[in-house]
Amino acid sequence: MNSRNRQWVLAARPQGAVKVSDFRLTESPLRALDPGEFRIQVLYLGVAAVMRGYMLNTEKFERPLELGDVMHGRGVGRIVESRNPEWSVGEIVHGKMGWQDFAIADGSPYFLMFKVRQRQVPLSTALGVLGLTGFSAYLGLVHVGALRAGDQVLVSGAAGGVGSLVGQIAHNLGAQAVGIAGGPEKCRFLQIKLGYRAAIDYRNEDLQPRLAELMPEGIDVFFDNVGGAILDTALLHINRHARIVLCGAISQYIEGELKPYPLTNAYQIFKKMARMEAFFIYELSAHFAEAESRMAEWVAEGKLHYQEDILDGLESTPEALIRLFAGQNIGKQLVRVHAE
Ligand SMILES: NC(=O)c1ccc[n+]([C@@H]2O[C@H](COP(=O)([O-])OP(=O)(O)OC[C@H]3O[C@@H](n4cnc5c(N)ncnc54)[C@H](OP(=O)(O)O)[C@@H]3O)[C@@H](O)[C@H]2O)c1
Repeated sequence: MNSRNRQWVLAARPQGAVKVSDFRLTESPLRALDPGEFRIQVLYLGVAAVMRGYMLNTEKFERPLELGDVMHGRGVGRIVESRNPEWSVGEIVHGKMGWQDFAIADGSPYFLMFKVRQRQVPLSTALGVLGLTGFSAYLGLVHVGALRAGDQVLVSGAAGGVGSLVGQIAHNLGAQAVGIAGGPEKCRFLQIKLGYRAAIDYRNEDLQPRLAELMPEGIDVFFDNVGGAILDTALLHINRHARIVLCGAISQYIEGELKPYPLTNAYQIFKKMARMEAFFIYELSAHFAEAESRMAEWVAEGKLHYQEDILDGLESTPEALIRLFAGQNIGKQLVRVHAE
């Protein structure tokens, strides 16, 4: 085992878009473990838009980051050393690891560490379809969105990590989905691979007339990853008792800081007796086992295609995060830190 650890630390708070220079790559010797601790060699890291909030300390559910601290992040890895009898060398785990080669955890709830039992699929899936990304798609749609067979579902950010799964889950449960994504390549992909019956390219098409054309029967469930103008326009097309699931609002993470988007069509929620509900996936942990077994079953049956967008090497982690905001990723954005 290498005796040194490379770590991406926070070098500057982002001003506007995240930049590579907001981080600094450092290297230091591995420290000895204290009793109760175990060391994990990080195999994959996942990136998420919420990480910009970690950099600014605006996400209160994470430990505050000072300049010079190792960047937060979930990973999947192999235990390579342990002073904790519950966590054994050789086990594969996923949880909070940070942007580094080797992480130290102690099994306390903070690390949200789980053992990977499902070994028929690549380990990267523990951060995607069989991890919090997949659980957000499934639980957001089924529990928060109360999906019913026959529902007409609209999904924004439909080619991303969460969105690439939502359309397929809807389809598997007898509903039909239309996806919104940026660019013709992503839109083709939505229809060919991801079970969407139609796609709207919000960068090149006018959303309002396209929704009228493609969803004349209206929207029963809107699974929103984007917020802002897309959410506002979708509200014009909701049905009676529609459910609007607020999973994310990436269009607002940077812009909304200065000028929050005013929802001009919010009256529709009242008029249609609809329900708009946000969720935070960590709060739905009681249902993780259900989500995992359902998703694993569909993957095994070939009913759920999982798309991963993997960059190689720890050094590419800042770039991976930047790709989310630039819309360059298709499917779950990951970094391969060490070969499986
Ligand atoms: N509630 C929760 O607990 C929870 C859990 C996981 C994720 N989330 C949220 O769910 C959303 C999806 O997360 P993810 O990790 O799967 O990310 P992702 O969808 O893989 O990546 C973000 C995508 O958002 C789109 N995007 C970026 N800027 C945009 C803009 N200004 N307007 C419209 N679309 C834009 C881009 O696709 P295009 O090319 O299509 O623009 C980009 O690929 C995020 O908002 C995230 O914060 C919430």
